[in-house]
Amino acid sequence: MANVTVIGAQWGDEGKGKIVDWLASRADAVVRFQGGHNAGHTLVVGDQVYKLSLLPSGIVTGTLSIIGNGVVLDPWALKAEIEKLTGQGVEINAENFAIADNCPLILPLHRDLDGLREQAAGSGKIGTTGRGIGPAYEDKVGRRAIRVCDLAHLDALDAQLDRLCAHHDALRAGFGQPPVDRAALIAELREIAPYVLQFAQPVWKRLNTVRKAGARILFEGAQGVLLDVDHGTYPFVTSSNTVSGTAASGSGLGPSQTGFVLGIVKAYTTRVGSGPFPTELEDDVGQRLGERGHEFGTVTGRKRRCGWFDAVLVRQSCAISGVTGIALTKLDVLDGFEKVKICTGYRLRGKVLDYFPAHAADQAEVEPIYEEMDGWAGTTAGARSWADLPAQAIKYIQRVQELIETPVALVSTSPEREDTILVRDPFVD
Ligand code: GDP
Ligand code: IMO
Ligand code: MG
Repeated sequence: MANVTVIGAQWGDEGKGKIVDWLASRADAVVRFQGGHNAGHTLVVGDQVYKLSLLPSGIVTGTLSIIGNGVVLDPWALKAEIEKLTGQGVEINAENFAIADNCPLILPLHRDLDGLREQAAGSGKIGTTGRGIGPAYEDKVGRRAIRVCDLAHLDALDAQLDRLCAHHDALRAGFGQPPVDRAALIAELREIAPYVLQFAQPVWKRLNTVRKAGARILFEGAQGVLLDVDHGTYPFVTSSNTVSGTAASGSGLGPSQTGFVLGIVKAYTTRVGSGPFPTELEDDVGQRLGERGHEFGTVTGRKRRCGWFDAVLVRQSCAISGVTGIALTKLDVLDGFEKVKICTGYRLRGKVLDYFPAHAADQAEVEPIYEEMDGWAGTTAGARSWADLPAQAIKYIQRVQELIETPVALVSTSPEREDTILVRDPFVD
């Protein structure tokens, strides 16, 4: 049976949540493999709106949902999100939800540090979500993280706490903050531990068991390739690898299991936070894209920066992530534009580039080369079949797939789950 890996191919917020929710009914398990509650996904099902940050988007359809070891988990955010969704009638229990016991925790001290560092960074500010994501990943690779499995052994945590506090107390002192209150931290962890532990298990084992039984696994990426810590617009990135290759290491299955790589691609471009953005529009066209697309962050409520579709960036993302096919989302947002533009290359100090250079200064300086197309009269909003699309909208889709050298597998035409056109089923070999 084929598995599917969903990743964002731009700077996040491409509509991954909607597509994962739509695909989840065809899957037997949905696994988050990186990121944390910096993600924000909005799912619309009939008159219900679900906002998810940490839970896999498969939870809404009741599909087995798993948080893999590659995620950083804030136990208090987890509890709050489960309670919110349960209040909306979503069933979440130890049968349909599991957390990797080797998943590192985000602690209050990580959130503190994220905020303190951003405040002190001046013009170097990343514009993080302030959720403690970066500091938690740093502690993971620094071998001083407290992990889910530690919650069952809080009395044996002294050596780990020594290591953790030696590091954080020095940093906190530099920021004029008091040292970590170890007793208070342990007390907080003791209180939340049973809640998290009811879902904790060796997820790699569970996944390998369901895989052997022929289950279809859907790997759910958060953020987007341009926010990847290696391949993105460094240093204006998140602190995890968001590329498809992470699906294996972040869940406990091998790379041969990641299957069809579905890149989620918005029909235009947005970005939240600081960093280069070649096709950004600070005029009324950008304003219009933002208004029509309701481009406000799910997590922080920040206004998203908007611009035309950048085929150079998406071609690069698709190559880096081995994207098999894309889901083109929010096509309806372009309805009513007389002309639409696509960036096909960059100009940098007199040279033409067909890729995005690695250095931040070059990234900030490139000028987009545009191709202009006629927009379409009529509407794509709510279309559920290819035949419902205006001819000119089809031309746009075809031009996009040509330029990014990757075929379209799905098209999304509204926030609603069912307003989705299936071109090629990613679960079918
Ligand atoms: P994610 O982080 O990639 O899951 O994306 P977000 O949920 O942060 O942002 C996507 C937004 O666009 C959400 O509000 C979705 O409800 C909405 N959305 C998703 N697909 C479409 C679409 O095809 N058309 C329109 N108009 N909105 C969409
Ligand atoms: P979803 O899954 C868009 C951005 C932040 C900031 C940078 C680093 O909804 O697509 P972090 O808190 O991760 O250290 O912030 O990354 N960012 C996102 N932007 N969508 C997201 O997730 C994001 N998650 C992080 O705005 O620029
Ligand atoms: Mg989002």
